[in-house]
Amino acid sequence: MIEKIFVIGGGQMGSQIAALSAIAGYETSIFDSDVENLKNKIKFSDQNIKNLVSKHKFSEEQYDSFQKNLKIVENIEEPLNETTFLIEAVVEKYEVKNEIFKNISKKLDKSVVIASNSSFLPASELSIDCDYPERFINMHFFYPPLRMDLIEISYPSNFSKEILERTVKVSKNMGRTVVVLKKETPGFIVNRMLSALIDEAYQLYDEGIADFEDIDIAIKKGLNHPLGPFELSDYSGLDIYYYSKLKQFNETQKEKDRPKTFIEEKVKKGELGVKTGKGFYDYKND
Ligand SMILES: NC(=O)c1ccc[n+]([C@@H]2O[C@H](COP(=O)([O-])OP(=O)(O)OC[C@H]3O[C@@H](n4cnc5c(N)ncnc54)[C@H](O)[C@@H]3O)[C@@H](O)[C@H]2O)c1
Repeated sequence: MIEKIFVIGGGQMGSQIAALSAIAGYETSIFDSDVENLKNKIKFSDQNIKNLVSKHKFSEEQYDSFQKNLKIVENIEEPLNETTFLIEAVVEKYEVKNEIFKNISKKLDKSVVIASNSSFLPASELSIDCDYPERFINMHFFYPPLRMDLIEISYPSNFSKEILERTVKVSKNMGRTVVVLKKETPGFIVNRMLSALIDEAYQLYDEGIADFEDIDIAIKKGLNHPLGPFELSDYSGLDIYYYSKLKQFNETQKEKDRPKTFIEEKVKKGELGVKTGKGFYDYKND
């Protein structure tokens, strides 16, 4: 079976996931509620792929495949009849994702794979009140998806084996290394481990022990990490950390899970990191 892929959410992740899918030869549609932003993101992916072709990471044929197979749609309903494999990559807010899934799961055929790229929300939670929850799965890419060679896959306990096999196949056809978890956990493997590092970095900064620039330098030079925790936060988007922490705090009511005030202030000011031109660092001139 050759999947027909529909990506919902075309921000920094979804736009490149759709590009990767088109490069792999899948007919791919993409929708975002902000069409202008989506078009800009696809232009950015186009530049990125050309650059990667010049470095022999992709071939000319793969660039042609990207151009031939990717289609922007302005109505979320348009591709539903044809879709066999859906990948959701909208903002990391539970209510937004669950609302989309509740509406769309009624309209998609029951054989369609419904995958979420959420960083922290497991499929069993995202599929609450949805039709056929056994076809939901987490397919977690890394930023930037055109360059990062890993997809973490996890699935609810009531999963369908066929859905897992199809998700692994699509991930491998996208040229990615796949890790399948044995149990669901918010954050999967990488973000659970990364959260521990980032929480501690934020705590050091909050206690006034060091400037964030110096914490980044210490981690890069002392642990040989390519990026410091504050640079990484800017690349991922501060909103992703904020909303996932807020959800965790609302559930546990533990002070250690409360998002830091300095993050909340930045999110409220729209200083979300690289994607808005400012986060901890300034990117306006980049
Ligand atoms: N940024 C990362 O490093 C990273 C890595 C892995 C996974 N993720 C996950 O990917 C998802 C998207 O993150 P991102 O970094 O691309 O964020 P982003 O802010 O760049 O993009 C989110 C997109 O969702 C769109 N959107 C919001 N509500 C919508 C709706 N109702 N219908 C359609 N589109 C809607 C927005 O217009 C925006 O373009 C999140 O779940 C995040 O946790 C992010």
